[in-house]
Amino acid sequence: MAREFTKVGVIGLGTMGAGIVEVFARNGIEVVAVEVDEPAVAVGRGHLEQSTGRAVSRGKMTPEAQADLLGRVTFTASLDDLGGCELVVEAVPEKLELKKEIFAKVDAIVGPDAILATNTSSLPVTEIAVATSNPKRVVGMHFFNPAPVLQFVEVVRTVVTEDEVFEDVKTLAQRLGKQPVVVGDKAGFIANALLFGYLNHAVSMFESRYASREDIDAAMRLGCGYPMGPLALMDLIGLDTAYEILDTMYKQGRDRLHAPTPIIKQMVSAGLKGRKSGRGFYTYA
Ligand code: CAA
Repeated sequence: MAREFTKVGVIGLGTMGAGIVEVFARNGIEVVAVEVDEPAVAVGRGHLEQSTGRAVSRGKMTPEAQADLLGRVTFTASLDDLGGCELVVEAVPEKLELKKEIFAKVDAIVGPDAILATNTSSLPVTEIAVATSNPKRVVGMHFFNPAPVLQFVEVVRTVVTEDEVFEDVKTLAQRLGKQPVVVGDKAGFIANALLFGYLNHAVSMFESRYASREDIDAAMRLGCGYPMGPLALMDLIGLDTAYEILDTMYKQGRDRLHAPTPIIKQMVSAGLKGRKSGRGFYTYA
């Protein structure tokens, strides 16, 4: 029998974390949503209110259902509130040391049967797992942006993850309406390993002024039927996140395809992080 999961935790309420909170809460699961301090908690709560508010304004959710959903989420700036959670999903920035530190702390807070999952898209799950006292209960649970919409989750199994743990996470992903796949612990797993070389190449085309941003995006949208062009997708993912993913994949020995195109770092330094900052390759209202 797979576990039920009635109460879970999510650490980090940025683009991915807030989306993951929404996915759980939409499916009737109680969520403890943690950010680093009160202002960051307020931003995270704002993401959730905005996203569910949009569903209400489109007639996809009733105001009562939105209130119920929000009522299932407890926002906090303290990891200690994760105590009673049966699963904790970490979705903080892609920095290995930060993730290890968080896992070591959470390991000491949750009960011995709780599962610890990371939403990392490129860092080694094994390295994160060994920061805890029980690496067998650590697994990757990688959602796709926007998490409430995209129906796919990569469940990352390390050499020590217990069978029961990834089976339970797989079953949970199905309950959340996602198709899970189980993959090994290799940078980029399946989707990002295929996606990021392409995105980087598109940025380098743009950087060399080979073609305009609109034409690059139109080529893939209209010419290849992708739901959005690569530069618009970079803006959705966030240039800071995309940079970290490329850099990690490059350092972990993949080919030059993943050496981050210099303009990505320049744009991040200048605050042009994509949708989240109001401007990236495009400008957002
Ligand atoms: N949060 C919540 N819901 C969202 C949303 C968001 N950020 N963006 C769109 N939606 C919802 C809309 O409310 C709408 O819902 P309804 O149909 O219920 O009304 C639905 O999604 C469709 O949205 P739109 O009509 O506005 O626009 P669209 O049809 O063009 O779809 C899209 C938007 C879902 C983003 C689509 O363009 C798409 O799938 N793009 C590709 C995204 C992609 O490739 N993501 C993977 C990135 S890589 C990654 O995530 C891995 C990593 O580790 C970084």
